[in-house]
Amino acid sequence: MPEVFIDGKRYEYEGDQRLLQFIQDKGMEVPFFCYHPSLSAPANCRQCLVKVGQPVKDRETGEYELDENGDRVIRWFPKLQTSCNTMISDGMVVHTQETDDLVERAQKDNLEFILINHPLDCPICDQAGECPLQIQTYKYGPEGSRFEVKKVHKPKRVKLGPRVILDAERCINCTRCVRFTDEISKTHQLTITSRGDKNYPTTAPGMEFDDAYSLNTVDICPVGALTSADFRFKARVWEMNQTPSIDITGAKGTNIDLWTRDNLVLRVTPRYNEAVNDHWMPDEGREAYRLFNENRVSRPHQKLDNEQIKSSWNNAFATVAEQLENVNKDDILLIGSPHASVEENYILSKFSSLLGYNNPVFTSHIEEGKGDDLLLTDDVAPNANGCRLLGFNEVNSAELGKSVSKAKVVLLLNDNLIDRGVLSKEQIANPFVVCFATNHTETTKLADLVIPITCIAEHAASYVNIDGRIQRSFPAKETKYTNRRLDFEMNEGRLDRYGTNFDNWVTEENKVDCLPLWIVANKLSEEMGLDDFSYSSGREIMEEISSNLAPFDGVNYARMDEESGILVQKEQQTV
Ligand code: SF4
Ligand code: FES
Repeated sequence: MPEVFIDGKRYEYEGDQRLLQFIQDKGMEVPFFCYHPSLSAPANCRQCLVKVGQPVKDRETGEYELDENGDRVIRWFPKLQTSCNTMISDGMVVHTQETDDLVERAQKDNLEFILINHPLDCPICDQAGECPLQIQTYKYGPEGSRFEVKKVHKPKRVKLGPRVILDAERCINCTRCVRFTDEISKTHQLTITSRGDKNYPTTAPGMEFDDAYSLNTVDICPVGALTSADFRFKARVWEMNQTPSIDITGAKGTNIDLWTRDNLVLRVTPRYNEAVNDHWMPDEGREAYRLFNENRVSRPHQKLDNEQIKSSWNNAFATVAEQLENVNKDDILLIGSPHASVEENYILSKFSSLLGYNNPVFTSHIEEGKGDDLLLTDDVAPNANGCRLLGFNEVNSAELGKSVSKAKVVLLLNDNLIDRGVLSKEQIANPFVVCFATNHTETTKLADLVIPITCIAEHAASYVNIDGRIQRSFPAKETKYTNRRLDFEMNEGRLDRYGTNFDNWVTEENKVDCLPLWIVANKLSEEMGLDDFSYSSGREIMEEISSNLAPFDGVNYARMDEESGILVQKEQQTV
């Protein structure tokens, strides 16, 4: 096995590996700015300098030459090397800033150069708190600057496109953003203009940076030069909680983080998953955070004299029970949803099966032409495959219309069938429609009863993506009936750990009056005297699904977390 020595320690390696990446993978650190593991490595920031040498071999014998102490003779490269574009080779000896004063000095001096024209505006910069330049300057940089000349001024607050703002003075010309549009989104919309200390990234004259993935450049910009037009100045990053979740605007199951403060989701960023989305996500998925905060159904709503008014929970449960008790099983229609989780679809189908109804249906949500070769898909719902694996019958708009017109009671799980043109207003006018919904929509407006349920940001639940991979969410914000301290699935907020014994950031009015669907099902079954319903969490429901349904055999939350999702469809085929 080939070997490499870093700071005096021996490591084995396989294949072609970049030195900087190898150092990081081994849990060590070398400062860097322009390198990104998913992009090419032009080595233009010069921050990742290390000292590199190769052992000398005897040309005739091929053996390593040894010195008087029996150690290998090392021939050092004449200059320090950039570790991001240096490939490891057998026997290589590397000194980082941890063991070599020259390397430490070079990195410090390079930072001083980088900072010559960088504005000292961390207190008002959105990137502060998660800025590689800020962090590495503290760790490896000089304490002050010897450059007391006036800094070069460049364009500020430039609207590069509808979603990205450039502050060219902060740019360190690492070219990560340019390489992203060249190598990942392939729109080639950005380039670096001008030379020397006048350069900065921009678009071609008259063109907008409207790449469908443009906000990834904000994530990878190692300074605050690129900021999100929507998120800028909304919150400091240290005030927010970061919770893992899944993008619900497409079928790819892009891994994301929800950033919350005051019980509101303020931004969405991609979470690395090599098997799904690498480091990236489409811009559209980021804008979906509004769905978690705005226009939420809070408290049950019931139609009275053609007007929906707020109702009590008890009245809502009694109304559903009354409607279901007065019809026979053939008059019920259960419409599942590719926009809802596996657990929610399962629980509603189990509830209706106790009533004798065994034919749950759903319609997939396809927008032809929307997909691309990266992360966007024609299927714009996160869980159509979950519905299929649960045994829901996939029907088209005409078939669903027919079933709805025959039904007397329709139980509809979170799906805006009117807006997406699956059903007409006339078609759902006749049956008694109960919508279990997260947001007010054209469909909920027409429903006879709307029962508010938790959204993906408020519960732990799982979704099967277009490739058959099941992945799950975590609760990121509280509802009227949850408490972050008592819910072991929820992250602790910063102030829980360092502040007072109450959470200053949780504003009561931002908590939605809604319940997880499984709690609603518990209450309904209690109201109707049915057995079997005492669910308390998505985790528990997944355990039941996994022991009852073959496609989900062996699936549980612990495995999903450990393996970053599980391929359930593939496993099903190989059984
Ligand atoms: S804007 Fe940011 S990502 Fe783009 S070149 Fe400048 S520093 Fe790098
Ligand atoms: S990270 Fe190596 S030169 Fe920039």
